[in-house]
Order: sequence, then structure tokens, then C-alpha cells
Amino acid sequence: MQPSVKPANPNFSSGPCSKRPGYSVNQLVIDTLGRSHRSALGKKALEAACVETAELLGLPAGYRVGVVPGSDTGAVEMALWSLLGPRPVDVMAWESFGSGWVSDILQELKLKDVRKFVADYGTLPDLSAVNFHHDVVFTWNGTTSGVKVPNGDWIAADRQGLTICDATSAVFAMDMPWEKLDVVTFSWQKVLGGEGAHGMLILSPRAVERLESYTPPWPMPKLFRMTKGGKLVEGIFKGDTINTPSMLCVADYLDALAWVRSIGGLSAAIARSNANLAVLEDFVAKTPWIHFLAKNQAERSNTSVCLTLDVTEAQVKSIIKLLEQEKVAFDVGAYRDAPPGLRIWCGATVESADLTALLPWIEWAYQQVTAA
Ligand SMILES: Cc1ncc(COP(=O)(O)O)c(C=O)c1O
Repeated sequence: MQPSVKPANPNFSSGPCSKRPGYSVNQLVIDTLGRSHRSALGKKALEAACVETAELLGLPAGYRVGVVPGSDTGAVEMALWSLLGPRPVDVMAWESFGSGWVSDILQELKLKDVRKFVADYGTLPDLSAVNFHHDVVFTWNGTTSGVKVPNGDWIAADRQGLTICDATSAVFAMDMPWEKLDVVTFSWQKVLGGEGAHGMLILSPRAVERLESYTPPWPMPKLFRMTKGGKLVEGIFKGDTINTPSMLCVADYLDALAWVRSIGGLSAAIARSNANLAVLEDFVAKTPWIHFLAKNQAERSNTSVCLTLDVTEAQVKSIIKLLEQEKVAFDVGAYRDAPPGLRIWCGATVESADLTALLPWIEWAYQQVTAA
């Protein structure tokens, strides 16, 4: 029987992710639009984006937060291009985005003293093999496999290298051990349901020290330049962006931050993701034909939840099509490089009630497709 109740919001994409509950573009504060981003008004909004991010995340004193071009990719590549070179590099990957950073380091930067630790979809590489005298590059949550690092216990507190972490699908959903992370990047379009195009770059004092003491041998595009005359351009981390940002996206991000504050801050946002994952865990536990792609429970993502089904690839496609046709779930197919299956976003902007409403539809679609 076709279920009768549909999710009020069928947006379960893993990026751009669903807007927050109650979102309306009409509520955005848009007095910055049509003005210079370097006007007092524009700069105030950009600075607020940095300051409020730091406050809500509870960043340690001395950590910088900047708005940079190019979404999360821009923030990661800016860090790789600016910081890598003086030490050997350990890079880890267990899905497609992490593999992209491996390729940046080996094929583009052509660094020689590199160890890569790669695991297949569903697992993590051996974290205990990492050498923290080296610079270490990794993804906190592998968005396309639904596998995250379980915590930061494996990261050396007394490391000599820098830890550079792409945490785009983790920040505002998972506890981050900031003191153990020297560079953290994320994009507004993930957990907060903001817009793409801009990235957030968080730097520890040790990362700043590296920027000020090391000049890479390769040419640095203007978009990546964070120092001038061997000193950090502090303005970038106070709202004085490298180039022109979208002030509409900034207004949208400030709205998302205000929403996080209104629900009780970071811990409330994390709790919402955990509750969403719990809904799917109950479903998987009682449904014999659906499984987490993540092999270990402690490594299971509470944002990009990846599921495999005991059906053919063609049947998975049919299930996804049915869910879309019925307007109960949009964009829930596994990423193009990942094993076939469903990927259901569980970040804070998704309502548990909508996931609960979706599950009978997944069962229904499975019955339709397997009976056909
Ligand atoms: C882990 C990870 N890194 C990088 C990216 C690229 O992000 P963006 O498109 O915001 O640059 C994504 C996007 O899904 C991601 O999941």
C-alpha cells in the first residue's frame, strides 16, 4: 500500500542541503545588497560571519576564521597550496573528495615526500599509522561514503606537523577537537543549509606561524594569497575578503547562524543530526534488505548517511526515481563515484519527522521495484 503521509520537506540532498526549518528568503536582512562589500555596512556583515562562526563553534583563542572564495574546495586548496612543502605529508582518503586532495598533492603540487593512506568506501584507513611529525591532510566526514573519523583521539596533541582537515560535512554536526586541528574548512551549503560559492577557512596559531615563515616555491594565484611581506593579511579574517563575495549569500549565512543560536547553539545542532541518524538506525535495524555502507558504528556519519540495498543498480535507480516522482525525497542517490545506494542527509536543517515520514515510502518503493 502506498503510504499516505509525505515528508513536509522532501529535500534530503547532501549539498546544497535543505534550508533550515521555517526558512524564507523574505526574512533575510538584505540592506547590504547593492552596496560595496567594503562599505562599513558590508564589512560589518562579513565580520559578523567570521565572529559569530567562531563564537558558535567555541573556537580557541587565537584561531582565525575567514570567508574565502570557491566554497569548501577553495578553502582546502588555498590551505594546501599555501602550507604544504616544508615537511613530509601524510594524506588519507576513503572516498571521492579525499581522493581529490590526494591527487592535488601528488599530481598538481607534485610533492615527493608523501605517504598516502587510502581505504575503500565503507571503511577508514589505519589512523594509527599516521606520523604527526608530518603534515597530515584528511577529511573529517567522507560525504560520499558516510564514513567519519570517530573522534580526535588518534591525533597527537604534541604534533610537529600541521593537521589540515576538510570538515565541510562535519562542522555544526560533529564535535571537533579544535586544539588538534590546525586548518579546518567548511562550506555554508552543508550542515547549515546555506549557499555555495564561499568557503570558511579556520586557522590555528600554528598554521598562521607556518604561513608567516614559509613561502612555497610555486606561483600563488591572487585568490589564494593570505600573506603580504611575510605577514598574515589579518583583514581576510575580519571581513576584508580577498575579492568580492555575494552579499546575498552572506545574508543567508547570517540567517543560518541566527537559527543555530535560536535552537540552542552548536550542541543543539549536533543533537538534531544525531536524532536524525537514530531514525535511520532504527529503520536499518528492522529492515533486512538495507545496510549502512559504513562498516563500523563509531565511524557512521550523522550527516551524509549512505545506505546500500540488496537490489541491483538498476533497481536502486528505479527506487530513487519513484521517490522523486512521488515528491517524497529529492537527490538521495549515492554520489556518482560511490557504490550504488541511497544517501540521505541528516544534518541539523533536516527535521526528524520528515525522515520518519520518508521511511515507509522507501519500503513502498522497494516493494514496487522488487515485485516488478
Ligand atoms: C568532503 C567534501 N569536500 C569537498 C567538497 C566540495 O565542496 P564545495 O562544492 O562546497 O567546494 C564536498 C562537497 O560535497 C565534500 O563533501
